[in-house]
Amino acid sequence: MKKLHVGLGARSYPIFIGNGLLGGVDGLLPEKVGRHIAIISNQVVAPLYLSRLTEATAKSGRDCIALILPDGEATKSFETLNRIYEWLLSERCDRATTIVALGGGVIGDLAGFAAATYQRGLPFIQIPTTLLAQVDSSVGGKTGINHPLGKNMIGAFWQPILVVADTDTLMTLPDRELSAGIAEVIKYGLIRDLPFLEWLEKNMEQLVQRDPDALAYAIERSCRNKAGVVAADELEQAKEGGRALLNLGHTFGHAIEVGVGYGTWLHGEAVAAGTMMALELSRRLGWLEAGDVERVADLYRRARLPIKGPALGADRYLELMAHDKKVLAGRLRLVLLRALGQAVTWSDAPEREIRAAIEACCV
Ligand code: NAD
Ligand code: GLY
Repeated sequence: MKKLHVGLGARSYPIFIGNGLLGGVDGLLPEKVGRHIAIISNQVVAPLYLSRLTEATAKSGRDCIALILPDGEATKSFETLNRIYEWLLSERCDRATTIVALGGGVIGDLAGFAAATYQRGLPFIQIPTTLLAQVDSSVGGKTGINHPLGKNMIGAFWQPILVVADTDTLMTLPDRELSAGIAEVIKYGLIRDLPFLEWLEKNMEQLVQRDPDALAYAIERSCRNKAGVVAADELEQAKEGGRALLNLGHTFGHAIEVGVGYGTWLHGEAVAAGTMMALELSRRLGWLEAGDVERVADLYRRARLPIKGPALGADRYLELMAHDKKVLAGRLRLVLLRALGQAVTWSDAPEREIRAAIEACCV
């Protein structure tokens, strides 16, 4: 078992990574976890892992209730949030309750936002069960729900008090979801950790085949990178760089997700193709070599991720990108690479180059 630390002063917390952790969660609970535990999960994850978790929490002498929600991105809604509030109220949950998210990023974001807002904030634990959630969404405190007019538009920063990433849970993850998570793993290598990118080049097949040691290492290294970024710019306020660098490929990817209709492409798939656009743009600005771009394309192919976006046309991409919430004061602020392992935020890319990069990276 590995233990990492997210250093945020009074809001610091540990991340535990390893196999077999679910059954021993009782031994990992911080003292501030009160008498009651309210677990939020979904209809796919609960049959697989809920009993393991409730048996472990029972060993700690705490009482435990669970709410099982429908699967899918549509669950990250006002309606489900209200259902959670009604459940917490009817179960008389108070400040002695700790909310636990057991699931992927959808459950983590939703349960985290419920925790941030119910009775002005309850302690919250993340038990991520997808690779994407273990390397990204469970760490850093971004919580929220979707609005019919935009994804993740309602939310709060609310840090968990504990993250437990049990790598055993990844053995039941569909292949496509695993690959989508690998896109976020590759992101850390690209933005700030060239040695990790090189490690991924050597070990991609092991990751895709779910070798436990390779997975544990990739999760640990990803979380270490994310913790470093979040500790330096928790609220994504840095004028340049900072937490926004975690959005490499996301503005182009957002256009893909919306352009083809949510749910058609997985987020990680859109991030991979979107990152290829960002890399091609970086090459056009003279920052990357063609060989660098091909090197990353090769890594995505080996991770079974797409390297080309859908042919929506550059006009449509630009229109959709302008609606992304990463746009600052009307300017398209993109994350680009000065070199592999060295990302920057950049608002001065000429539109003709952005268009050319999009066109070059569409099917
Ligand atoms: P998800 O939560 O929908 O999970 C993907 C699928 O895998 C679902 O069908 C789920 O039920 C299933 N699943 C989960 N764990 C499983 C397991 N162990 N075995 C089998 N099936 C399992 O999707 P995701 O990719 O984990 O998360 C995507 C969400 O995360 C999006 O809503 C996105 O906005 C959000 N997100 C948040 C942050 C953040 O910083 N808060 C970062 C990235 C993404
Ligand atoms: N997933 C991007 C962030 O946490 O900032």
